[in-house]
Amino acid sequence: MSITHGIKRLGVLGAGQMGLGIAYVAALRAKVNVQLYDVSPEQLDKGLKFMDKLLAKDVSKGKIAELDAKEARERVTAVGKDKGVAGLRDVDMAVEAVSEKLSLKQKIFGELAAELRPDAILASNTSSISITKIAASTVPQNVSAASEQGKANAGRVVGLHFFNPVPVMKLVELIPGLQTTEETLTRARAFAVACGKDVSTSQDVPGFVSNALLMPFINEAIMCLEKGTATRDDIDKTLRLGMNHPMGPLQLADFIGLDTCLAIQQTLYHGTGDSKYRPSILLERMVDAQWYGKKNGKGFYEYD
Ligand code: CAA
Repeated sequence: MSITHGIKRLGVLGAGQMGLGIAYVAALRAKVNVQLYDVSPEQLDKGLKFMDKLLAKDVSKGKIAELDAKEARERVTAVGKDKGVAGLRDVDMAVEAVSEKLSLKQKIFGELAAELRPDAILASNTSSISITKIAASTVPQNVSAASEQGKANAGRVVGLHFFNPVPVMKLVELIPGLQTTEETLTRARAFAVACGKDVSTSQDVPGFVSNALLMPFINEAIMCLEKGTATRDDIDKTLRLGMNHPMGPLQLADFIGLDTCLAIQQTLYHGTGDSKYRPSILLERMVDAQWYGKKNGKGFYEYD
């Protein structure tokens, strides 16, 4: 018997580029109602305007019907800071897509476990932080992790890792923590498929499969630049034209966000204790300078 995801209402936490993309595919492809939550009213406004632009572009290119775009947009509502996470109380699933900070995610998952229905799935779009650790934060301090409540809380937490730009990239990486139940995994997988994605599964190791492979590659490209092995343009050109990558590694780093790249590389380095993952000093310095890449106008390249 196939298990459906059973999700009618989805909460998305974080209206940045990932959260917005998740809201977009959920409303348009999976046709679920989406409550998009962000503590910043400016970010919510910016996110919803971007969604309008994306829908209008897809209609003008004949990729989607005008009515489908209209219905998708109507499925998305904004939830602001005033209501807090409690504003998502009725959702069947929440996907967290806030910045890559363990303490922030732990706080959010503690609140989600307390506010949402016990059968709601709690997913994280983290690109490298341990799902097991995040799941543990759903168990209140006075409750044993081995108790029924402890197992039920943590058992509904799962990693659901989308790729940027979410409307375009075809994959979702599914990551069970030690505590994740089979039912949670099956429903989360079914939801990703309903969003039009193919799914790969990774164990809960630092970086999962995707970033255990991608981030050392990007870090190595930055080290090549640092050492003067080749210029920025030649590093990117080599991978674009020599290996048919859609973007060179330095352009891709800017696209992902240099702060995010550094956070992932640090997770690999500290999570494994292996010196081969040491972050490039140039990457650290660029983040110190608050050069975060495309999102704030300066990284290895400059953006308008
Ligand atoms: N949101 C939605 N759609 C977007 C978009 C965005 N942010 N950026 C581009 N697109 C769409 C464009 O609208 C365009 O759609 P149409 O075909 O309908 O016009 C399509 O993507 C192609 O865009 P462009 O023609 O402007 O440019 P392109 O052909 O160079 O493609 C790209 C852009 C899809 C981003 C391509 O360069 C690419 O695939 N780059 C690699 C991206 C990648 O590797 N992503 C994964 C990063 S890792 C990650 O996300 C996870 C992590 O853990 C770090």
